Amino acid sequence: MTRRALLIAAAVIALALCLPAVALGHETPSPTPTSTPTPTLTPTVIASPASAPSAAPSPVVAPVAASSPAQGPDTPSILRPESPGGADIKTLTIQILVILSGVAITVWVILTIVILRYRHRPEAEVRQTHGNLTIEIIWTAIPAVIIAVLFFLTIRTTGQLAIPASTQVHFAATGHRWWWEFEFAGATFKTANEIHLPAEQTVSADLLSTDVIHSYWVPQMGGKVDMIPGHINRISFTPATVGTFLGECSEYCGHQHANMRFLVFVDSSADFARWMADEQRPARKPTAPEAVAGAEFITTMACGGCHTIRGTSLAGEKGPDLTHFGSRATLGAVALRNTPENLTRWLEDPQAVKPENLMPRIQMPADRIAQLVAYLEELK
Ligand code: CUA
Repeated sequence: MTRRALLIAAAVIALALCLPAVALGHETPSPTPTSTPTPTLTPTVIASPASAPSAAPSPVVAPVAASSPAQGPDTPSILRPESPGGADIKTLTIQILVILSGVAITVWVILTIVILRYRHRPEAEVRQTHGNLTIEIIWTAIPAVIIAVLFFLTIRTTGQLAIPASTQVHFAATGHRWWWEFEFAGATFKTANEIHLPAEQTVSADLLSTDVIHSYWVPQMGGKVDMIPGHINRISFTPATVGTFLGECSEYCGHQHANMRFLVFVDSSADFARWMADEQRPARKPTAPEAVAGAEFITTMACGGCHTIRGTSLAGEKGPDLTHFGSRATLGAVALRNTPENLTRWLEDPQAVKPENLMPRIQMPADRIAQLVAYLEELK
């Protein structure tokens, strides 16, 4: 009776082990996704700034893009790589999955056969094999070979991901409590939570942190690398196609770890050059009367203690640079779409949107908040 239960359990577990492998194999029919630039990755985030009525009092931050579950920045599957390195990692993932599924299936099949065939054999008839050298060698050699193959495949992929001596574009990414700061080599501006990169050019990045260990990860661009305080790590990748890609922190770093995300906009060379040139210039002077009032009001508040708006008296360094805030698709490290409604919600109470982030709640009258929103959204 207990043997029958064991048998059923073995069969169920074997089946459970195989199912994910089957599903995964089904989802990825194309082995070389980078060679055929699929235009499926539309910049969903910017394309749909339709003012989501964010009146819901829920502290849970609404997802930024409601794209179809199979694609788009919200589902940055490593099985849909958009860089050669990402494709290498996908290949390795599939290889390891296939090998380990093979091991699992083999073990469960043998186990099932043995249980079925010998379950009624009296114990006295069981032949003991203790100390059998041949068997010992075989069951040591087989796992050793499997591990050696996995080791070889992993080392080979690691070699493919090696950082080249020189790259066309270099930037520094710094992890903060819970946002990202980006600074390009040879440029004078800093930006936050959204970065533009040129397609088909090899990019490298220095990864730093100001507080705890974060981890830089753009799943479709390749591996993840820790950002360690007081130590610089590096990563390199070559974005293959124009599009918008979600990056995220992949090392638990506190309450809002899940809301520490960023967007990578991969542009054509011309668009990238335009973006770089645009980011260099100081903040636009406000034009609408409400925005002008906001620009005046912001200097009377504590905002400049943390934020910089180049071209104004605000020169804080603790928080995101807001010089081109209005041109960003999202706010709060991709916590919300950047819409006047969401910015209002954020300014009314940042702690309600993203609890424990470093921006305190500042009591302000509604008309003042409206002026700040008008000004910040003009900072394109
Ligand atoms: Cu930063 Cu998790």
